[in-house]
Amino acid sequence: DDIDNVEECLQPFRLSLEKLQDVSSRLRKDLIRGLGKHTHCRAPVKMLPTFVRATPDGREKGDFLALDLGGTNFRVLHVRVVEEMQKLLKMDSKICAIPQEIMLGTGEQLFDHIAACLAEFLESLELKDQTLPLGFTFSFPCEQKDIDKSLLIHWTKGFNCSGVVGEDVVRLLREAIHRRGDYDIGSVAMVNDTVGTMMSCGYRDQSCEIGMIIGTGTNACYMEEIKNVKRVEGEDGRMCINTEWGGFGDDGSLKDIQTEFDLVVDRDSLNPGVHVFEKMISGMYLGEIARLVLVKLARDKLLFGGDLSVALLTQDSFETRFISEIEEGLQKAQEILSKLDLPAGPVDCQIVRLVCDSLSTRSAQLCATALATIANRIRVNRGLDHLSTTVGVDGTVYKKHPNFSEKLQETVRILAPKCDITFLVSDDGSGKGAAMVTAVAQRLAMQSR
Ligand code: BG6
Ligand code: GLC
Repeated sequence: DDIDNVEECLQPFRLSLEKLQDVSSRLRKDLIRGLGKHTHCRAPVKMLPTFVRATPDGREKGDFLALDLGGTNFRVLHVRVVEEMQKLLKMDSKICAIPQEIMLGTGEQLFDHIAACLAEFLESLELKDQTLPLGFTFSFPCEQKDIDKSLLIHWTKGFNCSGVVGEDVVRLLREAIHRRGDYDIGSVAMVNDTVGTMMSCGYRDQSCEIGMIIGTGTNACYMEEIKNVKRVEGEDGRMCINTEWGGFGDDGSLKDIQTEFDLVVDRDSLNPGVHVFEKMISGMYLGEIARLVLVKLARDKLLFGGDLSVALLTQDSFETRFISEIEEGLQKAQEILSKLDLPAGPVDCQIVRLVCDSLSTRSAQLCATALATIANRIRVNRGLDHLSTTVGVDGTVYKKHPNFSEKLQETVRILAPKCDITFLVSDDGSGKGAAMVTAVAQRLAMQSR
């Protein structure tokens, strides 16, 4: 009957444990490729060195600015690190909107906009005459040359500004500030949001060695043995590696699990062929996958009596947050569907909920697979039979969905049985962590003087 037909359509989203294990071993090989000296250039998982070697030791202090660009919100922050209290205090912060014309405009427009937001913020706090060090969370893949030099590899998610790829983002920020000439900033530390998240949790829990984001995009970083990072000199100690696991599959290695819907989402995205894994998982794309499935079911007369609304036929009209809301309760499903001009009876609502559940489950399972792969790698790196570690997590999908984190944790336990992982939700975003990285860099610079 109808439910069987719906189930058949959702079947490609259901991944067996064997399949997940297989995906994990593919990723394990890709992590090694990304770390290699000669293999990294063409590696789909980029494994980027971050130049973050040390986690906070409690001796950091001072006042910092932070910028946080690349998630749902662009934020500017003023952060104080208090030595005696071993504490990170967020003094003030402000969210600035970035209009879509700017996200798709020129790099100069983007950085002028960022510099203007920072100016307004400093003005309101009467800080314009101070030259504070700045932590810059820039959540895109960058080839980092040093902590304050970072070249954009390519844009991901909703950004596509011209003239930035291949350029040093810190220089573009400084130039924009100098073009204004009404304030200045001190030393800059560039971090990915995964790194900022790991560092902000690391201040609370010393064993936090992984940072993970499941929001607009998805990604993770972790502490790798320097001797394994073939692109960086040195044999001793560890360095944080930004995996950019969103790019997993960009060489075609995930073809067997990509559904017809994933292929359409990729084809119609700003960057076809780029970040295949991310497009199966993160908030920027989940809603759109759901919409495509609903359209198919309606066309097959399995939903809404075969009716389609103009709204449902419009790209991105089904927001990812609807998935969370619908999984919270059927009442909400009715409301959301009627806003999309869809005549939804109780059975329709149940089917829509089933669709949402199968997409969020796949997303959680794929993230869990990737996280388990990393945890297993850390365990083997250290020659341990059993690893206890903490992951700092952030992102709207992880935080807002009613049972995403449970599904994820359940799968991680199965795929990494020898790892005992504690999940710590970052409480105030990665901007604070970026300030922390700046503080650590400053402490190290002072010590080496
Ligand atoms: C925020 C972090 O809390 O989470 C950002 O401060 C990060 O740096 C973001 O990019 C990810 O979540 P989302 O859902 O806003 O993309
Ligand atoms: C995208 C970016 C990555 C970021 C992630 C989460 O995958 O490429 O740098 O960490 O989104 O925001």
